[in-house]
Amino acid sequence: MSGRSRHFTMSTLLATSFFFVLLCSSLQVRGVNYTFVKDAALAPSVSYYDYIIVGGGTAGCPLAATLSERFRVLLLERGASPYDDDRIGDMARFADTLSDTSPGSPAQRFVSEDGVINSRPRVLGGGSCINAGFYTRASDDYVRGVGWDLGAAGAAYRWVEDVVAFQPELGPWQAALQGGLLEAGVAPDNGFTFDHFDGTKVGGSIFDADGRRHTAADLLRYARAEGLDVLLRARVAKILFFNVRGRRSGRRTAARGVVFHDSEGRMHKAFLSAGRRNEIILSAGAMGSPQLLMLSGVGPADHLRSFGIPLVRDHPAVGQGMSDNPMNAIYVPSPSPVEVSLIQVVGITQVGSYIEGASGSNWGVRHSASGSGPDGVHRPRNFGMFSPQTGQLATVPPKQRTPEAIAHAAESMRQLDDSAFRGGFILEKVLGPLSTGHLELRNRDPDDNPLVTFNYFSHPEDLRRCVAGLSVIERVIHSQAFKNFTYPDFSMETLLNMSTGFPVNLLPRHDNDSTSLEMFCKDTVMTIWHYHGGCQVGRVVDAEYRVLGIDALRVIDGSTFNASPGTNPQATVMMLGRYMGVRITNERLAAEGLEGTKP
Ligand SMILES: Cc1cc2nc3c(=O)[nH]c(=O)nc-3n(C[C@H](O)[C@H](O)[C@H](O)COP(=O)(O)OP(=O)(O)OC[C@H]3O[C@@H](n4cnc5c(N)ncnc54)[C@H](O)[C@@H]3O)c2cc1C
Ligand SMILES: *[C@@H]1O[C@H](CO)[C@@H](O)[C@H](O)[C@H]1NC(C)=O
Ligand SMILES: *[C@@H]1O[C@H](CO)[C@@H](O)[C@H](O)[C@H]1NC(C)=O
Ligand SMILES: *[C@@H]1O[C@H](CO)[C@@H](O)[C@H](O)[C@H]1NC(C)=O
Ligand SMILES: *[C@@H]1O[C@H](CO)[C@@H](O)[C@H](O)[C@H]1NC(C)=O
Repeated sequence: MSGRSRHFTMSTLLATSFFFVLLCSSLQVRGVNYTFVKDAALAPSVSYYDYIIVGGGTAGCPLAATLSERFRVLLLERGASPYDDDRIGDMARFADTLSDTSPGSPAQRFVSEDGVINSRPRVLGGGSCINAGFYTRASDDYVRGVGWDLGAAGAAYRWVEDVVAFQPELGPWQAALQGGLLEAGVAPDNGFTFDHFDGTKVGGSIFDADGRRHTAADLLRYARAEGLDVLLRARVAKILFFNVRGRRSGRRTAARGVVFHDSEGRMHKAFLSAGRRNEIILSAGAMGSPQLLMLSGVGPADHLRSFGIPLVRDHPAVGQGMSDNPMNAIYVPSPSPVEVSLIQVVGITQVGSYIEGASGSNWGVRHSASGSGPDGVHRPRNFGMFSPQTGQLATVPPKQRTPEAIAHAAESMRQLDDSAFRGGFILEKVLGPLSTGHLELRNRDPDDNPLVTFNYFSHPEDLRRCVAGLSVIERVIHSQAFKNFTYPDFSMETLLNMSTGFPVNLLPRHDNDSTSLEMFCKDTVMTIWHYHGGCQVGRVVDAEYRVLGIDALRVIDGSTFNASPGTNPQATVMMLGRYMGVRITNERLAAEGLEGTKP
């Protein structure tokens, strides 16, 4: 398909899905009235299903909806419904959710051993309920490289897009970023597209024209209600196994059920019903899936032994290959007003980094009860990642980002003039990355975060890509197109080291006063929350996502990736849920002599 006709098809598709959403607005407004979603406290103590999916997240929801078309499916999600939380639906409240660290929050904060503050979802719909909404496909090369069928992957992407993806309308700041990237040589101009090509493009968004979020939970509207039970606040503690005698291969281990707890602490068990092809599928995300395998006895033997966990299978690669793409951001104060935007434009450079931006400084102000200072002036209170406070994070190198240091940095922000908060972030994400780390248990509590180390920039190529990305950002800031949104006298060096008026990108002070871009990359590293790995294809699961050496158990989510797909992963995570749902259904029906579902 040529670029032009693809573009045309995409716009037509969007227009159609937009119309569809308008028609269904009664469903959309106060959430979808799913009859199959219940609180786990109402579940029986023992139940039986063809498929048990652990984790109702970005991959788990489309997977469950698809399998429910032909089978009896149980979807277990530890969090609550996104339709009951007003913050989730509203783009302007992005930072409110992220900064809520209460036990009932849809965002669970964790700090990696690298010292970088991070977040993982705890809600039906998973990451798609708390993320920045940018929607963009992986490249055809990525899809082929992973071994997915290009046609079936395209059909799965479209299935997702019909419900959750929209064409954003660019405000002046995002349009200036687009123009600046083109001037900086990130060409050609690919206009609006979901597809991944070198150059500058406007991507999709799961936020619609009114700033309302659409999530993976919305994909449950595809479900066959009689085929699906979704249990909320269902915290899975472990997978249960038994030993079977294989026909030829001697003894084998197979998954047979799960143990979960409801919000009242009551224990429940769900088992696979009789049926040779029934399965348990982990979709608990890059933090949850490796953790749950380990808690269930599948992981590095010595590590499990040290926690007294009975070994089911020694699997040294569980928890290995964890990566988080480093993100470095430059806050650019603007002399003129900017719109509130999350990511809409992306520059896909040839130097191994992706350039994106977010503008506006009212994250967390509009709805925050304590949003005004003693002088009655509204100031950002929340430590939102895309707020000028982010720059303050950068004044403290990762390992020194203690709560006290951050509180001190946030406090100093409150002294600033309001004009300091007018502006936007231009950020860069290192592709890949090549640096890898690992995940380990901290304790035996499935609700607690495991220990994770990402080793940012331990591979020199990642550092080189970061520096190259920063110089593209420098060219954008100095472009004609971006002129209205930057002060004329600000050199890059000044921007990176602002100390009077707009102290927002302060470099941490080293005794030698080193200000190299390499140092800037390492000192100011943050996350763009695209962490992945831990159950990688080829190491923990096979190409069909089956856990190696164990029957009736798969892992289908971002933990299986060897590299982050596209510029941002969620489109591909949702696609994968649909893609594997169709594949599992078709293979099974073919094996049982029945007709399959259409791709
Ligand atoms: C703040 C933020 C911003 C982001 N911005 C973007 C963006 O703009 N664009 C983009 O493409 N991507 C973005 N991402 C990344 C993207 O959202 C994730 O990569 C994706 O959601 C991961 O999907 P997943 O299915 O692997 O895991 P998840 O969506 O995390 O799903 C895992 C689910 O399993 C549940 N679970 C875990 N353990 C258990 C258990 N023991 N029992 C029961 N349930 C359990 C969790 O509650 C969760 O709902 C962002 C992510 C975050 C956090
Ligand atoms: C949702 O569906 C249930 C069951 O059909 C019904 O009792 C309830 O009134 C519905 N709620 C709304 C808001 O439509
Ligand atoms: C800058 O702002 C002025 C005044 O609003 C406008 O006329 C002009 O087109 C803008 N320049 C660019 C490059 O957008
Ligand atoms: C950065 O700012 C500090 C404090 O104003 C100053 O001492 C230092 O020389 C500056 N460094 C550079 C490279 O501008
Ligand atoms: C400056 O100091 C930092 C931290 O102490 C160190 O990592 C860095 O290598 C030093 N840079 C130079 C150029 O010596």
